Parts: sequence; structure tokens; C-alpha cells
Amino acid sequence: MCGIVGVIGVPNAPEVLLAGLAKLEYRGYDSAGLYVNDQAGHDFLVKRVGRISALEAAVDASVQGTMGIGHTRWATNGRPTLANAHPHVSADERFYLVHNGVITNAAALQAQYLQGVTLASDTDTEVVVQLIAVFAQTGLSAKAAFRRALQLIEGSYAFCLVDRLDPSTLFVAKNQSPLLIGVGTGFNVVASDALAMLDQTDQFIALADHELVTLTATTVRIEALDGTPVVRAPQTVRLTDGDAELGAYPFYMLKELNEQPTVLRRLLARYTADGQVQLPAAVLQALQAADRLYLVAAGTSYHAGLVGKPLFEQLAGVPTEVHLASEFAYHQQLMAAKPLLIFLTQSGETADLRQVLLKAKAEGWPTLTLTNVASSTLAREADAALSLAAGPEIAVASTKAYTAQVALLAILAQGLGVAQAQPAAAAFNVAHQLSLAASGQAQLIDQAPRLHEAAQHLFTGATRAFYIGRGTDWLVSLEAALKLKEISYIQAEGFAAGELKHGTIALIEADTPVIAFITDPATAAHTRSNAAEVAARGAQVLRIASAALAEPGDQLRLPDLDACLMPLLTVIPAQLLAYFASLDRGYDVDRPRNLAKSVTVE
Ligand code: M6R
Repeated sequence: MCGIVGVIGVPNAPEVLLAGLAKLEYRGYDSAGLYVNDQAGHDFLVKRVGRISALEAAVDASVQGTMGIGHTRWATNGRPTLANAHPHVSADERFYLVHNGVITNAAALQAQYLQGVTLASDTDTEVVVQLIAVFAQTGLSAKAAFRRALQLIEGSYAFCLVDRLDPSTLFVAKNQSPLLIGVGTGFNVVASDALAMLDQTDQFIALADHELVTLTATTVRIEALDGTPVVRAPQTVRLTDGDAELGAYPFYMLKELNEQPTVLRRLLARYTADGQVQLPAAVLQALQAADRLYLVAAGTSYHAGLVGKPLFEQLAGVPTEVHLASEFAYHQQLMAAKPLLIFLTQSGETADLRQVLLKAKAEGWPTLTLTNVASSTLAREADAALSLAAGPEIAVASTKAYTAQVALLAILAQGLGVAQAQPAAAAFNVAHQLSLAASGQAQLIDQAPRLHEAAQHLFTGATRAFYIGRGTDWLVSLEAALKLKEISYIQAEGFAAGELKHGTIALIEADTPVIAFITDPATAAHTRSNAAEVAARGAQVLRIASAALAEPGDQLRLPDLDACLMPLLTVIPAQLLAYFASLDRGYDVDRPRNLAKSVTVE
């Protein structure tokens, strides 16, 4: 989603802003822009629709500045056009504003305060910058005008504001959307994600909701909206657990897909010792205190949660529910007496989850976040957080975060089961199983060329596809379908194999691709029958079976693994099939249309 960068006190602001925006590209965007000021009477506003490379090309040597703001926009209010791209400027050309979030009362504010102002865009952001200018015209200082606007605004925002009359200052504020201040020596920066500015500094201050920051080259003043000063020291943010560089890979998705065995081994090193699960005491206590677990997530993370439910129920004997965050936030559940909400999120910034977290805090429910970004909002605001240790995931299509989430859920389930003296946990060796999974994943990744051929065979010219399976195979089918549709735009569905005959089989026609996962001994024969039923109706069927259940004619064999962790293997061919389908269609695998990596609006 939208990304914000800001800088003050450097000789080369355009360069710093462009480099920061490039680091935020992974979040997803459709236009980009920057405003810079040289603090000597010259300023520049440059915006482009499309990629940052177009913006870079437009920022020629004449564009100079020592401070400025930059933005990548993911369209919410208004189409992706030049007029709607940020920064937005007030009609009197005094204020320049970038924004991430959605202002829900923009229309009401416009009607009440901007009667005489003609808006140049369709955005809620422009309403805010015009509002600030109108308030400043009444004699308020820039900061007081900004504060007045913030007091009236409803919705989510991260803002970075420049007053052209005083370019020695940047104004910053946030509510619900992420924003960090980076502290340098003789300069300061602002970013939606520390990754964007790690080249400049590793000292970051996370902002809380409803805080207003006044930033100069050498000072950071944080205050609450009522003016109460806030003192908060910066924290060191380091990229650990891998890097964010593409290296020799053509796409981040392929790089991250290849990193999955390493991620499993890293999790084992971090959360087990001598084959035993080692968890922070507070996390184990929180798990033990709960009489029901609620896994809350979205997208791929939700699919990982679905795999986690049977792990907790079988290994730890604790009833577990899995919820889509966007549903859970607004529809009251019948809650257990002692719930523990576990948030699964790669980015740690997903707005749907944050809304549930706010609800949990209001209700007094304990919370635990499993995330890949230790400095993220959901990590900071939950009672406890554990790292997925997957390293930066840049491709929009999530791969290694899924693996890390499933593995960490297994580790937590066994840790809890052992602590509760559950026989099933005592009989299970999660460390051994995860190390088998790591080598199994590596073997499957080596089969990429075969899966490329299979993808060509199945998906060339296809407009829809089905993934089928039972038990955990069905759960992986859901993830496989999401992966295929988000990057290849082939309409795909994951199906409980037994349900096809209850309606959906009507869609099967000549050459419809159907991928059948067969790794569950209890239902393998039934799934095979379902695969045969669609083949009899003309479908092109790819059968992927575990070695123990494989039969002649199955196109791919998966190494054997305990059934409850089989998704760690089954997901690899699913990811590769999706990757090659997208690649062969000539799409930008890492940046599929309409999607964002960090989904910071509800
Ligand atoms: O950062 P999160 O794990 O909270 O993100 C949740 C979803 O937005 C994410 O998994 C999304 O579905 C991915 N594009 C899937 O590949």
C-alpha cells in the first residue's frame, strides 16, 4: 500500500527520497511523487503514474533539495492518475502533503470547510492539505493548522507535511497507519518502513497513534495531539535473518521460495535446543493460561493458521479457532473464558488485524503476534511477539512467511503440549520433523524445471483452475489457488475434493486444469476417485502424492513427513506452479496488479 518517505538536513534529498521509495516498491503502488526544497528559495514537485523508474527519469539534475517528502500511491479514493498522485499541494501552494490511509469524513470536511476551494484531485488527501491551508489563512501557525486538521479528521493516516514558508521543518502525524522517524547525525528521516531508510540510519522511533512530530535536521519533537510532550528514545533496527537484495534471482518470489529450507533451519536454531522446544517464559505462560486459542490472520497467513489449528488441537489438546481478521473485528464471537488471540502476519502492519488487536485490548483479551517484522505495529502493540525469522519478504506473493508461520505454530503447539504433559506431544519430535521438512523442501525446489513443464502444460491458455485435496491437502489447496490467481490472474479455486460433486464439477470441461494433492492416508483413495471423476470429464489432472501413497502415473512424489506438517512440502510445488504460470504469461511476478504487500487499509 502507499509508502511514505521524508528527509531533512541532507545535501541530496531527491536521491535519498528516490532510494527510499525504491525500497518501498514491494508494498505495491500505481503512482509515485516527491516534493523537494533546497531551503534557499527553490522547490520542485515531480509526480508520475506507473513505476518509480518513471519518476526517477523525470527527476533531472536541476531538481535539488536538502529536504523533502516522497510517496508511492496505491489508489483508494480516485483512480491512479497524475492528479491523484501525491504529494498534494494546497491551492495557495504553501503546503505539500503525503498520506497513507483513508480519511472517512473527507466529504463532510470538504462540505463544511472548503466551500470556496476547487479541488484538483479526487483524493481524501487533498481535502486535508486544503484544510490545513484554510486554517493557516485564519492566522494559525502551520503546526497549529495541522493540529486543528488532525483533531477533525476521522480515519487512518500517516502524514508528512511541508510548509513551503518554513522548509526547515517537517511535520508528521499518524493514526493506524505505520510511520517511523529515523534519527541521523545532522539529519532526520521519516518512513513507512525502516527498510526504506536503513541506508541512512539504523536508529528509529516508532510513533503511536495520535502523535504529532515536528522534525528539523537536528531535532525530533514528539507530542500528543493536546500538546503534551512525549519522550521516546530511538531503537536500533537491524536487518537480520537474511537480506533484501535480489542477487542473481530474476524475481524476489523465486529467491524467497528458495530460502524456505533455510528459514526452517533458522527457526529450529532459534526455538529449539537439543531437539526440545524453547520458548520465552511469557509466551509459554500465555499459551498455558488459555482455554481456547484464536488464530487471527488474512490471506496466506490465514491459510497458515488453518494448518495450525489441527496442530494445537492434536499436540496440545487445546481447542483452536481460525478467523479472518476482517470478519473477526466487527462480528462478535462467543468467546471462551480465557482466550488467547494469536495474530499471524508477515508484515505486522495489516490493518484488518490491527483492528482486532484494538478490540482485544478493549476487551482485555491477551494477545500474541507472530510476525516477520519485529519493529512492526502488531509486534509492538501485542502483549508478546515472536519473530518468524524468515528475513525480508519482498514479493507480494507470500512464500517463506507461510512456511515460517506453519513451522512456528508447530513449535508452539509442541511446546505447549509438552508443558501440559500431552501424550501426543511427547510422541512427536517437531525438531526432527522440521529438519526433514527442510530437506524435503530442498528436494522439491530442485524439481523446479519439471514443475515449469507442468505449468506450461496445464496453464497455457487456461482461464481457470482447481486445486483439490482433503484434510490438510484441502488447506494447501486454498493457498495454492490464492498463489496462482494473485500472480497469474487465472481464476483459481481450492476445493475440498469431496465437495466437487456437490456443484462445482459442473465447471469442469475439456482441458480444465485440476491439481490433486494426495498426502492424507485416510482419504487418499477418495481423492483419487475425485481426480478420476474430473479426468473423465476432460480435465487435465496433475496428481501430486506423498511417496508412501504414490501410484504409477502420479506426476510428482513428495518426500514423506508427518501428515500434520505435510503442507510444508505440498506448498512448494503449488508455489512453483504459480510462479511459472505468471512468468510464462510475461507478468511482473513480484508486483501483481492491484495488490499491495503491506495492506494498511481495511
Ligand atoms: O502481512 P500479512 O501476513 O498480514 O498479510 C496478509 C495478506 O495480505 C497476505 O498474506 C496476502 O494474502 C499475500 N499477497 C498472499 O500471497
